[in-house]
Amino acid sequence: MKSDKVLFNPDGSRLDGRGATDLRPLAIRAGVLKRAEGSAMVEWGKNKVIAAVYGPREVFPRFMTDPYKAIISARYIMAPFSSLEEHNRSGPNRRSQEISKVCKHVFENLILTEKFPKTMIEIHMEVIQSDGGTRVAAITAAAVALADAGIPLRDIACGVSVGKANGKLVLDLDKTEDNFGESDVPHVISPRTGEILLYQLDGMLTKEEISQSYDMVLEASKQIREKQVAALKEKYESALDAQNGE
Ligand code: CDP
Repeated sequence: MKSDKVLFNPDGSRLDGRGATDLRPLAIRAGVLKRAEGSAMVEWGKNKVIAAVYGPREVFPRFMTDPYKAIISARYIMAPFSSLEEHNRSGPNRRSQEISKVCKHVFENLILTEKFPKTMIEIHMEVIQSDGGTRVAAITAAAVALADAGIPLRDIACGVSVGKANGKLVLDLDKTEDNFGESDVPHVISPRTGEILLYQLDGMLTKEEISQSYDMVLEASKQIREKQVAALKEKYESALDAQNGE
């Protein structure tokens, strides 16, 4: 969407004070839920997302069973109290169904599903506070939750958006930049291989901007990956300490 809203301060910084390639503050915790096999919470700027993983378990309904691999169920949902915008009902809507579907494709390419034939892996992503970039925050959280559940993965995926605000490429758009900027491009990549697992283009970018934005995502994924790994280490170190009675 093109708008006249000025999205930069007079000193060239973004409205929240960030530079073009700065991420919002990011904090990740693994193992936040007792009942789930794996879980994680991501607080990213004003976004708060919880991811929970169940399985591999028996497939229900049974006819969906795949004899060669695990089937993936992914559910992204935004709590009715998560933003100031009107959410007239809780539960799935067209937007959340579309996001759940693209998330499912990401996880199908991430999980070694062939290791668990005839089973199902359930991934839940709940946005409890939203401020732009929730789908990438949700996938970033779910990747940690999957690793926490001990599910073999090709990589721990990282997601981040890049977009254009007042004609300038900026990383990790917040809601104002998303709503008033010209484009928003959520990316999910495998930092190990650089492969793109999700790419949604809302708005327009030139060929050069597409390659520049990919470089920005690749660079940012190193910082995101560090936090994901640190969250998993912290959980397992504290579990070991508890086992050793420390
Ligand atoms: O969150 P993400 O950027 O992945 O998705 P979006 O559809 O581009 O939405 C951008 C932001 O608008 C969300 O993060 C929410 O803060 C807000 N939004 C909302 O409050 N209610 C909706 N029904 C859709 C979006």
